Amino acid sequence: MLKTLEPPRLELLSGQTANPFSHTTTAPAEPEIDGVPIEELTRSYGSPLFVFSERVLTDTLQSWKSAFAPCYSPVTFGWSYKTNYLRGICRVFHEEGSLAEVVSEMEYRKARATGVAGRDIILNGPHKPKHLLQEAFAEGAKVHVDSFDEVDDILALAETSPVPLKVGIRVNLDAGIQPVWSRFGFHLESGEARQALQQLLAHDRISLSGLHTHIGTYILEPQAYATAAEKLLELAYWAEDVFGQRIEHLDLGGGFPSPARLKGMYHSPDVYLPKPEAYAEAIGTALRTHLRPGHRPELLLESGRGLVDASGTLLTSVLTRKTCADGRNLYVMDAGVNLLYTATWYELQPCLTREHEDPATLSQLAGPLCMNIDMLHTNCALPRLDRGEVLRIPNVGAYNVTQSMQFIALRPAVVMIRKHGAVDVLRAAETLDGVEAGEPR
Ligand SMILES: Cc1ncc(COP(=O)(O)O)c(C=O)c1O
Repeated sequence: MLKTLEPPRLELLSGQTANPFSHTTTAPAEPEIDGVPIEELTRSYGSPLFVFSERVLTDTLQSWKSAFAPCYSPVTFGWSYKTNYLRGICRVFHEEGSLAEVVSEMEYRKARATGVAGRDIILNGPHKPKHLLQEAFAEGAKVHVDSFDEVDDILALAETSPVPLKVGIRVNLDAGIQPVWSRFGFHLESGEARQALQQLLAHDRISLSGLHTHIGTYILEPQAYATAAEKLLELAYWAEDVFGQRIEHLDLGGGFPSPARLKGMYHSPDVYLPKPEAYAEAIGTALRTHLRPGHRPELLLESGRGLVDASGTLLTSVLTRKTCADGRNLYVMDAGVNLLYTATWYELQPCLTREHEDPATLSQLAGPLCMNIDMLHTNCALPRLDRGEVLRIPNVGAYNVTQSMQFIALRPAVVMIRKHGAVDVLRAAETLDGVEAGEPR
């Protein structure tokens, strides 16, 4: 008997959405952050709202410090300003003993205005104006030279500077991480780094303070840091043998991952994120193995996202509900890619702030901008949300505040929940007057 051919068709799954382990992908609703009701936060400070937890911030830093303590000493953390340079965030790090790691004149001035002494600043970055270099040397900052043009500027400064110049250089190297970030600093493997040191250290008023590298970001391979440390030490001892100068610090940059989930990750980050101890052990072992007897340079680390992502949450409310052409729910939220730049490479994990009876279905989350690219999530499992309902987007503390754009909408307030429960405003919500402040009337 002939059967009629039924053409195959693709159907979008709806109903309870399951991950490969058959668990629902929606986390349980959480109506509070650090004991403060979310409803109270949005009522007092509006929506959207960035909320930082001081407790999570200091606990995270402490967990990295504790991991390194048994592996090497001395270790000093330098707070990577660009990751989040709100004064209130920087202050927490400085109170916990972190240096300021800055990459521009604006960031240098910000650190100084926050009360950081020049000697507690690490000055990195591809461009350092000559007047800034002069000031940074005079104030005792740790300067990491990035290019041969900068070498020329420093050689010129050495002629007139009232103080001898102590310099470090930034080195890029192959630590097994692809792509190699080769546009910052001097290539190690091609011999450029030695050439830069030769030019600098030939001057009798310039001495070597340290070596720096930053091998990339969200590095899931602790051993890459061991390779970087080993290669930097080899360069350091070459300089010691040739110029008789011993480095005082070894700066391995940042790049430790955060619990935010990268797009394309099959599992959730807690399945395969190495623990801080794994990085500390890899670096400590490399140092203990390759340091010359009696030499204990200060190990500097400039972790950014790994220290601050987890402490930041964005609260965002449903403005409008729509139905996509394929039948999925689409929610227009009051926060978009103008505030969450990291939505480009992170798969944001929107969480409920109240319990729902109805099942989760695949939904889309759009931002409020009149731009097609303004999508926060194209496929997340959510129950039917009400208009005005607040979602919590965790792990957004890194880069979003500093990279958020004043585009179409005003930027929201940023608050911090202190360890003792008080809520402080770290930055007030933007106003139209503020946006137009520099424009002639
Ligand atoms: C020199 C330097 N240090 C530290 C960081 C912080 O990196 P991450 O957020 O990956 O830890 C960066 C970021 O690009 C950097 O360029």
